[in-house]
Amino acid sequence: MQLSRRAEAIQESPIRKLAPLATAARARGMKIYNLNIGQPDVPTPPEFLQAVAGFTDPVLAYGPSDGLPELRQAMSEYFRRYAIEIEPREILITTGGSEAILFAFNAVADEGQEIIIPEPFYTNYNGYAEMANLKVIPVRTRAEDGFHLPPDGALEKAVTPRTRAMLICSPNNPTGTVLSWDEMERLAAFARRHDLFLIADEVYKEFTYDGARHRSVLELPGLEERVIVVDSISKRFSACGARVGAVISRNRSLMAAILKFGQARLCPPTLEQLGAIAAYRLPETYFDSVREEYQRRRDVMFDGLTKDPGIVLRKPAGAFYMIVKMAGVADSDDFARFLLEDFNLDGETVMVAPAGGFYATPGAGTDEVRMAYVLEAAKIERAMEVFLAGLARYRARS
Ligand SMILES: Cc1ncc(COP(=O)(O)O)c(C=O)c1O
Repeated sequence: MQLSRRAEAIQESPIRKLAPLATAARARGMKIYNLNIGQPDVPTPPEFLQAVAGFTDPVLAYGPSDGLPELRQAMSEYFRRYAIEIEPREILITTGGSEAILFAFNAVADEGQEIIIPEPFYTNYNGYAEMANLKVIPVRTRAEDGFHLPPDGALEKAVTPRTRAMLICSPNNPTGTVLSWDEMERLAAFARRHDLFLIADEVYKEFTYDGARHRSVLELPGLEERVIVVDSISKRFSACGARVGAVISRNRSLMAAILKFGQARLCPPTLEQLGAIAAYRLPETYFDSVREEYQRRRDVMFDGLTKDPGIVLRKPAGAFYMIVKMAGVADSDDFARFLLEDFNLDGETVMVAPAGGFYATPGAGTDEVRMAYVLEAAKIERAMEVFLAGLARYRARS
């Protein structure tokens, strides 16, 4: 039977595609440090789990399509901590940030229209663009610049009569880069100049280091009609399996349209929204220890990697990922496979995500891998030794 063009075109996840090789390596008795996937190991707040366990209604019924009012209220209060005034009606709860991306794409652009995204980018944007029949237009950022935005000229070149939106992610997956306020203001001017929506994926909002604070696009003055925020509790409260996210915008007609998408899928999960309400009511200090822990891990990873003079890496300021560019590696897919199939250091190896899948430009990122620092610092320290030994062996072999 003939499948759709979309079904044929959708890309395999670069994060998960090496999983069978890892399974085989484990079966051979190998210990693997998993640096390939952004699954945090920080415990989900007990308050979340207790709220779910405390559900006593006899029927687990459908909830409202835009989410439980108490959750939207709790989120509105959470944003107030950052001096951002967002009304509950400007928040629509989604089934994870993933659905928020899908809804935002579908609301701003029609088939064949374009969304500009700085690359490398969170690989699933490709999948959602495919589902919405949109075209992703990448704008290249580079390891040497810490993956900050290129000059305005490069952004201008990406614009066509079909461009509808620019999508940014800060703090960024996969680079860890946090955009500066100057960069955000440049983006605001760019969006105004070309009459574009500015979609911002802010699911790593709390994860900023060295005292840096993330500024939201919701803080950009005069951009109320253009700004759409993709949000999620997956990383914020280490609750990836809950599948609770949100799409946030002050643009009333856009939110009314998104509500119709929401109605088509009935409602987001009820029990997990109850957990999310409890999590949002945690004091702000909850994030202090989480942030400290990730900063320590980032430092250990960065210090470990930069021992190799052939690695290009600027210290990332947020999220929990790094894109690592390596001299002597021309095909990081092959290198990641080598680590799992042909290498070990005293019975240990590492699993990384080849970065090519985070780019839309063919051939880009083939000398890079993405690493996530989602293991304890001591394990990351050892994983870096193993990784550098593997890199040295690979270079010698090639
Ligand atoms: C940048 C970014 N956006 C969105 C998501 C999707 O998150 P969710 O689990 O809320 O669907 C992820 C998940 O890793 C992510 O890294």
